[in-house]
Amino acid sequence: MNKGKLLTLEGIDGSGKSSHVAWIADFLRSREKAVLSTREPGGTKLGEWLREQLLTLPMHPETELLLMFAARKEHIAEVILPALERGEWVICDRFSDASHAYQGGGKGLNHRRLVELELWVHGDESSQPCEPDLTLLFDVPCEVARERIALAGRHLDRFEQEDAQFHDRVRHAYLERARKFPERFRILDGQKTLEAIREEIAALLTEAGA
Ligand code: TYD
Repeated sequence: MNKGKLLTLEGIDGSGKSSHVAWIADFLRSREKAVLSTREPGGTKLGEWLREQLLTLPMHPETELLLMFAARKEHIAEVILPALERGEWVICDRFSDASHAYQGGGKGLNHRRLVELELWVHGDESSQPCEPDLTLLFDVPCEVARERIALAGRHLDRFEQEDAQFHDRVRHAYLERARKFPERFRILDGQKTLEAIREEIAALLTEAGA
């Protein structure tokens, strides 16, 4: 039985989710929780190397899906499960819902394949599969997200370079996931002020046991 909690952050590129990671970690520490912040793809030496390839090299969409889950297997086995067993709160910037949203919704890959990989990689044989306890979905309209990315003026990765229709499909796939798993998903309006969003996050974390 895991003693810690797995908290995942999701949203389209430009939704603002990553700007809350450090604040959430500080909030949890202020509540005397041990915290581990990590991200996907990435979180391990192999995972960070795979991230670099995934964000830059052109590849078949199914190769992309397999590499996302390969990086995730390593991450779960080497980082996430050990931290949960130590009783830590793991904050993970993206997790398998991102594969459903981007590779499933965005790229249109077969849902059955995704579920098979998820069962395998999350641990279908263990008594307790590795599932998030709480998923914060930062939702913003695609035009707002694109504007923010353009304003940041940085180099765009392979996913950010996809067109508006792609990001719209990703957004709707995320919202569909949230409807399907209402017990763990909480949708936050990413257009609210930073302070208002943080207030909501604090309430949700408290409700989750922080
Ligand atoms: P992202 O969190 O957006 O990194 P950053 O905030 O540094 O730009 O993640 C990188 C990209 O990876 C993002 O565009 C979504 C994509 N991604 C997938 O397509 N599938 C996945 O399963 C994961 C975890 C990420």
